[in-house]
Amino acid sequence: MIAKQCPDIDVKVVDINPTRIAQWNSRELPVYEPGLYEIVADRRGKNLHFSTEVDQAISAADMVFISVNTPTKTFGTGAGKAANLEYVEKCARQIARVSTGHKIVVEKSTLPVRTAEAVKTILSNTGDGATFDVLSNPEFLAEGTAIDDLLNPDRVLIGGENPTAIHALVEVYARWIPREKLLTTNLWSSELSKLTANAFLAQRVSSINAISALCEVTEADVDEVAAAIGTDSRIGPKFLRASVGFGGSCFQKDILNLVYLCEYFGLPEVAAYWEQVVKMNDYQKRRFVQRIVRTLFNTVSDKKIAVWGFAFKKDTNDTRESAAIYICRDLLEERAKITIYDPKVSEAQIRHELELVMQGPDGRLSPVSERLLAENLHVAASAESAAHQAHAIAVLTEWDEFKTANFSAIYDQMHKPAFVFDGRNLLKKNQLSQFGFQYQGIGVSG
Ligand code: UDX
Repeated sequence: MIAKQCPDIDVKVVDINPTRIAQWNSRELPVYEPGLYEIVADRRGKNLHFSTEVDQAISAADMVFISVNTPTKTFGTGAGKAANLEYVEKCARQIARVSTGHKIVVEKSTLPVRTAEAVKTILSNTGDGATFDVLSNPEFLAEGTAIDDLLNPDRVLIGGENPTAIHALVEVYARWIPREKLLTTNLWSSELSKLTANAFLAQRVSSINAISALCEVTEADVDEVAAAIGTDSRIGPKFLRASVGFGGSCFQKDILNLVYLCEYFGLPEVAAYWEQVVKMNDYQKRRFVQRIVRTLFNTVSDKKIAVWGFAFKKDTNDTRESAAIYICRDLLEERAKITIYDPKVSEAQIRHELELVMQGPDGRLSPVSERLLAENLHVAASAESAAHQAHAIAVLTEWDEFKTANFSAIYDQMHKPAFVFDGRNLLKKNQLSQFGFQYQGIGVSG
């Protein structure tokens, strides 16, 4: 977006992974995002370059964005909660090593509070006389709508200490974003705001999902409740869609990070409060599978279930922390035969995700899991073919194409009674009932 909006700024994207960079230089970008290819194709080779020459790019730059991943730690202190800052630290050391003169270093990766302190310390102790300003500029774009979010953000947050450095970054964004949307704060507020924004958003989803469980055992309908509360201007209508559970690379990771910070700073009650958002999400995923099993006469063993959608939401091929991974795992463990279709996710990626969640602590698959993955997991090339001879369809991602599927033909080739478990409340109960389906949405009894 900077390359598109600022033709006079030379943007160099560098990565140590040559395959990644080759993809960015090809027609098949490594991520699917509506509108992204057009922008890359327009600017690539002009003021947008992708390369593996990391040192050269750093040394030529006035401003360096650190945009590496910060996965949840899997080992040592804080395992399962704290962010693994190994890659951020390596970047900071590399920047320090090759820099001369003055540079602005921008934290773009989502980081725990006070990471900028660590980055500053590394930069000021490792370098060769170079000087640095550190800014925090967290990214609020959501996948699937990234281009629009970058073009018309609700706000851009820039945290820092030196007003000159803050001003330099403000001037970049001001080329296309109104000044009143460019918020400047101190470094720590900026870092904490990113974690807080994601925790609040995820909390909305967990709150409505908690109510969906209550709706299913009463006569209330969660979509009606969401619409009713959403008209209260203090609550607002967005992010109240009950679902099979939130996924994605950010929500769970960032909340756990927040939980870890609270524990670290001796605030166990605050930690427990936020951790419940993640627990509710796990419960929602488990509950969905339990409802399927219960409805299919208490067993899904050897029954074929079509799974529509594997991405964590529509318009992305990203499957990180997708609810579908856990639901498919649980269905396989119930010995169901599942056939998955997702318009953008490859079979290799689906298998990889399921292997990761089914392997034991030693990193190996048990013989049973291996057999389930080999014999009970299939991937289809269309929604319709996934449903062939199935007892039930489980809708796990809200892809638009599922709304216009040929339900009459699909019903004809399914076992009867033919069930639809709509984990996204995407389809219309009345319409599906007319074809003969037994339909169950999230947060509606029956
Ligand atoms: C999120 C934040 O929105 C973004 O600002 C931040 O920068 C990164 O994390 P993203 O993970 O791309 O973005 O997706 P988002 O649209 O927030 O959805 C997250 C998950 O919540 C998805 O699985 C989605 O399906 C689910 N969700 C969202 C619901 O189940 N119900 C809703 O009402 C909204």
